[in-house]
Amino acid sequence: MSNLMEKLTGLKKIKTAVFISGAGSNLKNLIKFSKIKKSPISIDLIISNSNKAMGLKYGNQFKIKKKIINFKNIKSAEKNILTLIVNKKINFICLAGFMKILSKNFIKKFNGKIINIHPSLLPKYKGLNTHEKAIVNKDKFAGCTVHYVSAQLDSGKIILQKKIKIASKDDSNSLSQKVLKQEHKLYPAAILKIFS
Ligand code: GRF
Repeated sequence: MSNLMEKLTGLKKIKTAVFISGAGSNLKNLIKFSKIKKSPISIDLIISNSNKAMGLKYGNQFKIKKKIINFKNIKSAEKNILTLIVNKKINFICLAGFMKILSKNFIKKFNGKIINIHPSLLPKYKGLNTHEKAIVNKDKFAGCTVHYVSAQLDSGKIILQKKIKIASKDDSNSLSQKVLKQEHKLYPAAILKIFS
C-alpha cells in the first residue's frame, strides 16, 4: 500500500506499548485517542510492573494484550519486555505513570521512541511528589510536560508543556486532579506533534 493510501485509509498506525504502574487514566485516554482516525498510533500492548495496577482493567475492556513484568531483576524484566515488543512489532513506547526507571541500555535501544508524561513544568520538580513541592513552595503555576525519555530522569527533550494557575485554595490533591485533566489533553497533542 502506498503511503498516501495508508494515510487516506488510516489502516497503518504505529504500534505502541503503554507502560503503567497505577490508575491508568492516561492509558485509558491514549486508548481512546488511538481509536480516532487522525491518531498516528494504535495501542497494542500494555506493560505494568505491578499486578495491582488498576489501569490493567483497560486491557480487558479494550481487548489489548497486557503483561505484568516483575522488576525485581531489571535485566530479566527488560529482556522479557524486549521479547514482547519484538513479537508484537511495537515501534513506540508511551510511559504513563510508570514508576520504574528503565536502564540506559534499554533507552538506547529505543532512542527517540520512548516518551513520558510528567506532572510538573520540567525542568522544575523532576522525580516524585511534584504537586506537594509546588504547594509547599507556594508556586503560582504548575503544569505537565511530555518529553522524550533519556538516560537522565525526567531530563529528555521537551515535546509539549501545559501551564496552569494554582489557586490559593488548592492543595496537592486538587492540584493533581487539575493537572491530570490537562495531561489527558497534552499527551495526545504531543503524539500528534511528533508524527505530524
Ligand atoms: C500522572 O500524573 C502522571 O503524570 C504521573 O503519574 C500519574 C499517573 O496517572 N507520572 P494515571 O495512572 O495515568 O492515572
